Amino acid sequence: MVTLSDLASFGEIAAEDDPVLDYFLTTDSVQRIESGKILLVLGRKGSGKTALVRHFTENNLREHGKPLSLRSYPWGAHAQLVDKGASETEAYVASWRLLISIRVASTVVRLGRSKYTDKLQGLSRFLMENFGTTDPETKMILARPKLKVVGLSIGPQIAGVSLGSITFGDPSRERVLGLELDTLATSILRDVSDVVAELGIKRLFLHFNELDQGLDQLDDTRKRMLIGLILAVRVISGSNNLRANISPIIYLRSDIWEQIQFSDKNKITRTVTVPLHWDERSLKALVENRLKARLGSEVSWDQIEDGEKMRGSQLKLNHVFARTFLRPRDVIQFLNEALIIAKNRGGDPLVFQNSDLNDCREDYSVYLRDEMNDEIQPHWKKWTEALTALSKVGTITFRRDQFVEAYNQVKTKDNTMDADAALDALYRFSVIGYLSPSSGGGSAWTFRYSDTKSEWDATATRLKVHLGLKEQLKLKEQRN
Ligand SMILES: Nc1ncnc2c1ncn2[C@@H]1O[C@H](COP(=O)(O)OP(=O)(O)O)[C@@H](O)[C@H]1O
Ligand SMILES: [Mg+2]
Repeated sequence: MVTLSDLASFGEIAAEDDPVLDYFLTTDSVQRIESGKILLVLGRKGSGKTALVRHFTENNLREHGKPLSLRSYPWGAHAQLVDKGASETEAYVASWRLLISIRVASTVVRLGRSKYTDKLQGLSRFLMENFGTTDPETKMILARPKLKVVGLSIGPQIAGVSLGSITFGDPSRERVLGLELDTLATSILRDVSDVVAELGIKRLFLHFNELDQGLDQLDDTRKRMLIGLILAVRVISGSNNLRANISPIIYLRSDIWEQIQFSDKNKITRTVTVPLHWDERSLKALVENRLKARLGSEVSWDQIEDGEKMRGSQLKLNHVFARTFLRPRDVIQFLNEALIIAKNRGGDPLVFQNSDLNDCREDYSVYLRDEMNDEIQPHWKKWTEALTALSKVGTITFRRDQFVEAYNQVKTKDNTMDADAALDALYRFSVIGYLSPSSGGGSAWTFRYSDTKSEWDATATRLKVHLGLKEQLKLKEQRN
């Protein structure tokens, strides 16, 4: 007998806290990343970046080195390591390339523990002499006053002179620092790649997760550093003078990617990026994987609900999806709230009823507003004034002029966004959508979270608030 009473929850909303490997859903993204052609994985918060990293690094440690976390990374200290010989865009490529090469050196030393080759011994010596361990913390790697050049089979040379060490923060060496970092990285990468080939590994992946932390406030230096990281990854992935493939991959929040500009950005987005997209089908599969893992391998969604349609003859799961940003995070949150309501109601066997989904929306709505707040607040401090205006208008669908009037009433002096800019931003974060003619002849609501390529239409007059906010903003269907 399948009953929701046996289900503790649908899981946690962040992969760090979720036993996601018990019920990981293998999507197309997995295969694309494994192809080795991908440098960048882009997705909103809660779209599954960390889940992918955990899948790769905890299930298949041999080809996927430990994930590289930039949580509490010393961005400020790294910012000093400018390559004065490179363009502004490329100023940080050399330092990131060195950091990555030291991290993969550490990975191959660990993978080759039981083997004794000259190159492995050499890399191990390089790490020990510089860091006192073969597994230095990422944030310590470039934070040394100096790096000694030891153990490498072909030591770095500059203009025919062997490099004995690199000193950081020495004004007299500032002009050659970039060159030094670069040649040292090349020496290390050459040995690492030889070891990778010797160990019989086809491709060594290195996953960069948790970039978000230091990048909430993107100043020009941070932007250049991020661009540098992406370009460094591209250089390493594309090196064809190495014996084996080394593939670093960056996982990044899409809103951060949208804030940086450089000449190859579009090319990178089009050709070597995986955008994480979910739809009703894949989200249903994600939910069912959880049910199968916890309630039995044959269990499907239909068995945990009563089959009654929601208002407007909508399927229950579609009712849920319509209140999310089509991200796993929101779906899990919604279903967990509904599960609590169902359990309080009781029943044997316990299955979802329409009332469970209706009654949990109040709490879910608070969650969704907080989620939006996390994303929008750093860009627009006073954005809640726009929410107040939406509440004042009072209905889910509304006219543009109604919003403008309400917004101008509530807007305070230190809110820098005028009504036009406010609508644009609300659209960008999928708080609102607009009505547009659809190909079939009728019209349809366009929201950015589902029509990712669509642009804001500043001339649109019919607008709509995201359904997930209805309860929080106390909106009605129609004005009486
Ligand atoms: N492929 C997947 N299979 C199963 N669960 C997933 C998958 N992708 C994401 N999730 C779940 O969705 C939630 C959000 O994913 P997470 O990786 O934390 O997102 P992000 O790192 O992009 O913010 C977590 O509960 C995670 O376990
Ligand atoms: Mg994450």
